[in-house]
Amino acid sequence: MERIRIRVDVDVQRARRAARRLATDLGLDRNGAEMVVLAVSELGTNLIRYARGGEITLSTMQDERGARVLVESRDDGPGIADVDQAMANGSSTGGGLGGGLGAVRRLMDEFAIVSDASGTRVRACKWVRKSERGCGHT
Ligand SMILES: Nc1ncnc2c1ncn2[C@@H]1O[C@H](COP(=O)(O)OP(=O)(O)O)[C@@H](O)[C@H]1O
Ligand SMILES: [Mg+2]
Repeated sequence: MERIRIRVDVDVQRARRAARRLATDLGLDRNGAEMVVLAVSELGTNLIRYARGGEITLSTMQDERGARVLVESRDDGPGIADVDQAMANGSSTGGGLGGGLGAVRRLMDEFAIVSDASGTRVRACKWVRKSERGCGHT
């Protein structure tokens, strides 16, 4: 497990490298690993831009259901007033493109976000060889 404090851009770069290494070591192919890297990028960028920093935790899990990479983002920022709207493509309160959270949801296999006035938590995972397990996703 790796916990990376995110304050400035170089922290996001460190998190990206750690995610790439973890995903590749676990057996994700190049495409799959880069999807995890992109998700980490978007979450890390949001931590800097909207929450004055936070933490990204990367871990792997392996059990009878298979192997997956887990990406968690947490912060003590102001939270997201309307999560549904924030998830919608093109919705940004910071002059961004507003596609980050939606991309994270699409790039990863499972996605959950919880946010209130005390902060935001995102939890997402990506399975290794998900297609071979016969449950593709939309
Ligand atoms: N960690 C966070 N804390 C508070 N607000 C956030 C956080 N992450 C995202 N948001 C809110 O959700 C919106 C959508 O985020 P995102 O999809 O990444 O688009 P963008 O970063 O381009 O604005 C942001 O504009 C911001 O209002
Ligand atoms: Mg963003």
